[in-house]
Amino acid sequence: MPGKILLTGGAGYIGSHTYAALSDAGYEVAILDNFANARPDVPDRLEVITGKPVTVHRCDVLDAAGLARVFASDRFDAVVHFAAKKAVGESQQKPLDYIETNCTGLVNLLKAMRAAGVFRLVFSSSATVYAPTLDWPIPEDAPLGYASTYAYTKLMGEQIIQQVAAADDRWRFGILRYFNPAGAHPSALIGEDPSDIPNNLMPYIAKVATGELPSLNVFGNDYPTPDGTGVRDYIHVVDLARGHVLSLDALMRGDGSHIVNLGTGQGYSVMEMLAAYARACGRALPHTVAPRRAGDLACYFGDPRKAERLLGFKAERDLDDMCATSWAWVSRRSNMRQG
Ligand code: WQD
Repeated sequence: MPGKILLTGGAGYIGSHTYAALSDAGYEVAILDNFANARPDVPDRLEVITGKPVTVHRCDVLDAAGLARVFASDRFDAVVHFAAKKAVGESQQKPLDYIETNCTGLVNLLKAMRAAGVFRLVFSSSATVYAPTLDWPIPEDAPLGYASTYAYTKLMGEQIIQQVAAADDRWRFGILRYFNPAGAHPSALIGEDPSDIPNNLMPYIAKVATGELPSLNVFGNDYPTPDGTGVRDYIHVVDLARGHVLSLDALMRGDGSHIVNLGTGQGYSVMEMLAAYARACGRALPHTVAPRRAGDLACYFGDPRKAERLLGFKAERDLDDMCATSWAWVSRRSNMRQG
């Protein structure tokens, strides 16, 4: 059944891991990326991982003519769409940039797909489309809302796709709502590679472990959680990538459209993550308790049962594997930079 897939944002963190998983599943994959948030040598590293040449289209989703050229260059069976801006904090400072890239970019992509007769789409969405809630685990039919421009663009993206599909039954889509991606590829050749100081917990801890940052600020230890620190549903990026393969498989075999959580259904606290990372890197990690971060919720994890029922998806990797693969990746990258 595999086919030919266009992977937008395929040089990014989750995109590159999904490339490896799709290739491993027998799909022929081409990457479309503007490399605004990806190292230029990621395709070379993917070539080492997969043992196959990597096709790359350097293109921005705001370049409608460029998109038309890409779809004219080959016959794609489906698109997996990652290309978007994703920093929650930055989205509050640059709302128009986020709405343009994440929403206008999506419209451009949908128009290029329609013109080329490509009607299967897997869309990278986010658990941030859920309205703040105290009712965990969060099911897909929980109330939706947004607390940032980033979340707004993801919710709008979901709505745009559903409106388009409601008007034309040739469309089939998989909307995948991620909780907290973490970890790296077992090869240690690809992983999360933030160019500036990370906002997210694991990449920040990773930089403390390598000594690039002095200490972790624990944003609050007075939450109503077992150890007082924030609890989140961390999912290994390799499990997350597998979820995209299963979503695409479903669309390729003619199943209907679906909207599912990709999470583990289990929450881990900041202190549990810190302890797991200390086990992975073999040393205690300096940290201090700081005030709560504005907008943070105490606890947030998803109900994974619908993805298991519809797609056969179940996360297999635990927090220790997320930390071990992250540590192997950042150690190798740190050595490469020193070398
Ligand atoms: C996790 C926990 C923090 C950093 C974000 C975005 C969204 C989504 C997932 C894509 C919280 C605590 C963090 C630090 C800390 N991704 N923390 N010190 O906020 O749950 O979700 O990533 O859609 O982009 O919503 O993730 O990793 O920032 O925070 O104590 O230096 O770690 O308070 O409890 P978050 P996070």
